Amino acid sequence: MPVVQSITEEILDLKRQRRAIILAHHYQDSEIQEIADAIGDSLELARAAQKFDGDVIAFCGVVFMAETAKVLNPSRTVIVPDLDAGCSLVDSCSAAQIRAFRARHPDHVVVSYINTSVEVKAESDILCTSRNAVKIVNSIPPEKPILFLPDINLGNYVKQQTGRENMRIWQGSCVVHATFAARKLVAARLAHPAAPVAAHPECPSDVLSMADFIGSTSAIIEWCVATDAKEFIVMTESGVTHSLKRLAPGKQFHFVPNENCNCSECPYMRRNTLEKLRDALDKLEPRMELPEELIRRAAVPIECMLAVR
Ligand code: 13P
Ligand code: SF4
Repeated sequence: MPVVQSITEEILDLKRQRRAIILAHHYQDSEIQEIADAIGDSLELARAAQKFDGDVIAFCGVVFMAETAKVLNPSRTVIVPDLDAGCSLVDSCSAAQIRAFRARHPDHVVVSYINTSVEVKAESDILCTSRNAVKIVNSIPPEKPILFLPDINLGNYVKQQTGRENMRIWQGSCVVHATFAARKLVAARLAHPAAPVAAHPECPSDVLSMADFIGSTSAIIEWCVATDAKEFIVMTESGVTHSLKRLAPGKQFHFVPNENCNCSECPYMRRNTLEKLRDALDKLEPRMELPEELIRRAAVPIECMLAVR
């Protein structure tokens, strides 16, 4: 009888043949996270891409993350399972809008969240992620006015944490986190009164005001693992369950559904599947191809961010 390879075995074989690394964001399906070489938040994955020295990076996340990996690895092949894995934050802000803003406000430092297109990154002074946004803004001299983009909720949170008044904030939002409703969190707290609340800073301020901890996806996981409670309410994408279950067995995690889908899954992140990953490793397509000049310009604010420890 012919031996039938499972899709996971096919992927692992192709990975060896291609000298590839599989990077997976916490919001990927569990079956993808299980075969990944590294799982992380957007900052950790950018650092993993920076350190890698094989031939192919298979990026299981959304396209802006793969673009960042390509900018940091211009000579390597970067593939994604699905080129339509976008992000509502990326869609909220174009490079032309940033150029127009700069023409009107040449004195402003442009701080862009990593959830932006590579073209917007190329127009920016420095990047940040949800993990380091407060630190990045604090690294800018206090007298310099800032444009923070594109996430309004992260921007407001950073403004409040830094006490920075000279900070303009773009009006973009995440379709998952911005639609978490405070009334549903109130209901979850009544149902689970012993559970502390961990929230991603892309959530609205009324949700964040009820949180015991606010941080990036990895920071939320670390906090739930380290905190001495038996159950938690988690206000982020439910893909973090994979690491939470592995790192904190025996603890319980409650997710609050958002208004769009009665779930808490990112429709972009969840476009990726094992089948698409296998095909991408096989054909080395879809592939990130970026003009050299764009890579050169976008690398500056990314490297600037990575240099802030
Ligand atoms: P993290 O940086 O926390 O991984 O967030 C990325 C993201 O897209 C959150 O929605
Ligand atoms: Fe973008 Fe929100 Fe999805 Fe993160 S969860 S990739 S911010 S749409």
